[in-house]
Amino acid sequence: MTTTHLTVKSKIFNLKARFTIKYNPICRHLNYTFTETPLFMLPTINFTETAAYKYLADHFIDINEKNLKQLFAEDEKRFEKFSLVFEDILLDYSKNRINDTTLALLMQLARECKLDEAIKAMFSGEKINQTEDRAVLHTALRNQSNKPVYADGVNVMDDVNEVLAKMEKFSEAIISGSWKGYTGKAITDVVNIGIGGSDLGPVMVTEGLKAYKNHLNMHFVSNIDGTHIVETLKTVDPETTLFLVASKTFTTQETMTNANTAREWFLNKGAKQEDVAKHFAALSTNAKDVAAFGIDTANMFGFWDWVGGRYSLWSAIGMPIALSVGFANFKELLAGAHAADEHFENTPFENNVPVILALIGIWYINFFDAETEAILPYDQYLHRFAAYFQQGDMESNGKHVDRNGNEVTYETGPIIWGEPGTNGQHAFYQLIHQGTRIIPCDFIAPAQSLNPIGEHHPILLSNFFAQTEALMNGKTEEQVTAELKKEGKTEEEIKKLAPFKVFEGNRPTNSILLKKVTPRSLGTLIAIYEHKIFVQGIVWNIFSFDQWGVELGKQLAKSILPELKNDDAVSSHDASTNGLINQYKDWR
Ligand code: F6P
Repeated sequence: MTTTHLTVKSKIFNLKARFTIKYNPICRHLNYTFTETPLFMLPTINFTETAAYKYLADHFIDINEKNLKQLFAEDEKRFEKFSLVFEDILLDYSKNRINDTTLALLMQLARECKLDEAIKAMFSGEKINQTEDRAVLHTALRNQSNKPVYADGVNVMDDVNEVLAKMEKFSEAIISGSWKGYTGKAITDVVNIGIGGSDLGPVMVTEGLKAYKNHLNMHFVSNIDGTHIVETLKTVDPETTLFLVASKTFTTQETMTNANTAREWFLNKGAKQEDVAKHFAALSTNAKDVAAFGIDTANMFGFWDWVGGRYSLWSAIGMPIALSVGFANFKELLAGAHAADEHFENTPFENNVPVILALIGIWYINFFDAETEAILPYDQYLHRFAAYFQQGDMESNGKHVDRNGNEVTYETGPIIWGEPGTNGQHAFYQLIHQGTRIIPCDFIAPAQSLNPIGEHHPILLSNFFAQTEALMNGKTEEQVTAELKKEGKTEEEIKKLAPFKVFEGNRPTNSILLKKVTPRSLGTLIAIYEHKIFVQGIVWNIFSFDQWGVELGKQLAKSILPELKNDDAVSSHDASTNGLINQYKDWR
């Protein structure tokens, strides 16, 4: 019997079809067997079937009995063991419901899921976004080492550097005022028109780095609700305003509608068609539609299909950041992210910040049944950080089909939410302290304030430290009783009140203490969270870089829009949708 293997590449899903041809000389017969395996070999392991998962399931029973206070009492080196400093960031993960065994098993889980191979595949430009047949190379955008990075056999660094150089020149011309508007005046206001990844990242970072900003007034319009653009246009002057139309596809309904409204407003204010070139620039991958819109492609800043929308702030989509804080600070942001990339790619899992954060997250989601994660920055500048990672995490890992195309039998991406401290404390922390659900929290704070005024920062930080301590320690019945006694309450009053005043504690937190919010440290922090999301997606065996789930609503909206253009009653939908549309037509 002779055996030959033939490999044929199919375009769909980048599957490699492998034919095994066996020749049977007795009956002079050729036998074919046909197997399909993903060409790019992201592992396709069901993590619940690994040995580590089974050990973790047993181990969970032990840990679930234990209290964090007890874990600290048992191990005086716990903080040293379960914390690390990377760049100017301290990650303290000791206030988690873990011990040495938990971590060892979680690391084993990552190894059994072949996380190392997946990391290599991403950094080396393999098409790990298999359902869209794309590489995932946002890391190349911030590759300050300039080591070549290949996508489809081409070193992408030449293109990356070319766009960065173009962004530098443009941002410097706008900031310095050498770029003039159609009446010869310098630009004073920048309006970024984009949505999702073409908005959330630039908004979050320009807010995060507001302390570093220059004289340009930054505005962001994302919502299709006309109120957003109308209210913004009320505050700007067409002679001194630059519009950035930020859209990877340049087809997104919200962005294109807002961009058309902005152009119409601009032309109605006395500018001519040829003036558009001085006041509109595009951040996009779609040169054809940019030109069709009337934007000079010399003012188009490109990027590539291997940059996912929610990972695009490092690309030309970061133009508002470069304009707001200057190109040198934008480069620092990239450098900070690059440091996180090198750390993630090269550090053993045991000391790898994104890997640790991801695995602890999996511990809570898949073993403690935590449904949500709160991100709580104790820094007003980071007030959009949680909103940014709502897209980053939930659009990436909100998936229910695994990489084999099967329905998953376990939970995947958590619900991400959060607000800055201390505002959150006066709003929703009650539920975190005394509610029925376990809510793992990330507390983030800078040691140095960018606005060190009076006692504000020590007060802010005392709240940060107090909250994580309170969540861990809670308050026992004995403590509550003693307190109430001191207040002069009677035995009967104490008995009645005590149950409500007891905090069971044992609620887990990570503390992330930054030395200071700088372009570099913010870049590092964002990249750490990005890689955390990647690691979780690998372990859950899902595709983290597509977003088919947002398509259905978009399609339906497009089919409903024509129905809203006349006054005829509709009957083509379900009773509820018909009822809503018809009432809207009646009332409008
Ligand atoms: O919401 C879906 C999405 O595709 C996001 O992933 C993306 O960030 C956003 O829409 C905007 O897309 P675009 O940059 O192509 O306008």
